[in-house]
Amino acid sequence: QKDKELCAHQQYKEEISSLPLQRSLKRIPLRLYKGFWFNEIVLPGVLSLRHHLCPTSSDILLASFPKSGTTWLKALAFAISTRNPDLLLSRHPQDCSPNLERFFAGPNIPDLDVLPSPRQFSTHIPYSVLPKSIHDSLCRIIYLCREPKYTLVSSYYFYEGIHRPEEAPQPMSFPEAMELFCKGLSMYGPVWEHQLEYWQESQSRPDKVLFLKYEDMKADPMTNVRRMAEFMGRPFSAEEEMNGMVGEIVRLCSFEKLSRLEVNKVGVRGKGFGWAIKNSSFFRNGKVGDWREHLTEEMAEKLDAITRARLYQSGLTY
Ligand code: A3P
Repeated sequence: QKDKELCAHQQYKEEISSLPLQRSLKRIPLRLYKGFWFNEIVLPGVLSLRHHLCPTSSDILLASFPKSGTTWLKALAFAISTRNPDLLLSRHPQDCSPNLERFFAGPNIPDLDVLPSPRQFSTHIPYSVLPKSIHDSLCRIIYLCREPKYTLVSSYYFYEGIHRPEEAPQPMSFPEAMELFCKGLSMYGPVWEHQLEYWQESQSRPDKVLFLKYEDMKADPMTNVRRMAEFMGRPFSAEEEMNGMVGEIVRLCSFEKLSRLEVNKVGVRGKGFGWAIKNSSFFRNGKVGDWREHLTEEMAEKLDAITRARLYQSGLTY
C-alpha cells in the first residue's frame, strides 16, 4: 500500500511539473491548475485529496482566499464547536483545524479519523477544484471573504516577513506585488474567481455554503457568530445567550485578545515546507481601512475597477 501511495505521489509531481509556471511574491513558483495559481509545494496535496478525501456529513470546512482572516475564522469555529474559548489561551488558531491540502501533502494518505468529530478542516482551495466528494456530500462550508485591496496588502506584508532560513531576503516593491496580484498571480488566485465561485454556491445552496465577509464580521461580530453557530448545527441556547457565551467567544477571538497571547506571539511554524513563519505573522493589525496607508488613489482605483468588472452582475459587492 505504502509503495502504491509513493508511486501516486511521484505521478502527481510529474503531472505538476508539466503545468504552466510563473513566479509570485518571494519568487514562489506557482502552477496553473484548473484556472487557478497554486504554490507548487501544495499541489501534490491538492491532487491527492481530490482522489482520496472521504468527507462525512458532519464535517465543517473553513474556506477562504489567503489573508482573508482565516486565523480569525478558525478561532471562532473552534470556540463555537468546543464552547470552551479558553482553550485558545494555549492554542494557536492555526492549530485548531488542519489545512486539508497540507494534511495531504506527504506521500502517505493521512488518516482523518484520528480527528475529533465533528471534524473541522480549513482550505484555500477554490470551490471548483475541491473534490467531487465534497460537492456531493452533506458536509458544510463556511467561506470568509475579504475585500481584495486588503488581501493584497495583507499578503504583501505577510510574505515580506517570511523567509527560507537558507536564503537571503528577496524584497519586492509593493507596486510590483500589485501588478502580479492584478494578473491573478497570487497563491490560489485570481482572488475574484475564488470569491465568486463560493459566492455563487452560497446563493444556489445556502445550506451548503455560508458566505461571510470580513468587513461585516468586524462591524457586527455577535450576529455573525450566531449565524456561524446555527450553520454549524450548534446554535446558542437561551441559557448560553443569557450567560453571555456569544460575547465571550467574540471577545476571546478578537484581534486585540488573540494577538496579545503568548502562544500567538512567540514561536515559528511552517518549517515542513522550508519556510520560517512566525506565529505572530498571522496577526498584523486587523484594521478596516488600512489599505489607504499602502495604496495610492490611483492604485486603489485600478484594483477597484478590476473588482467591479470581475464581479459585475454577480450580486457580490463590498
Ligand atoms: P491584516 O494583515 O490586514 O492585519 P489569514 O488569517 O487568512 O492569514 O489573514 C490574516 C489577516 O487577518 C491579517 O490581516 C490579520 O491581522 C487578520 N486577523 C488575524 N486574526 C484576526 C482576528 N482575530 N480578528 C480580525 N482580524 C484578524
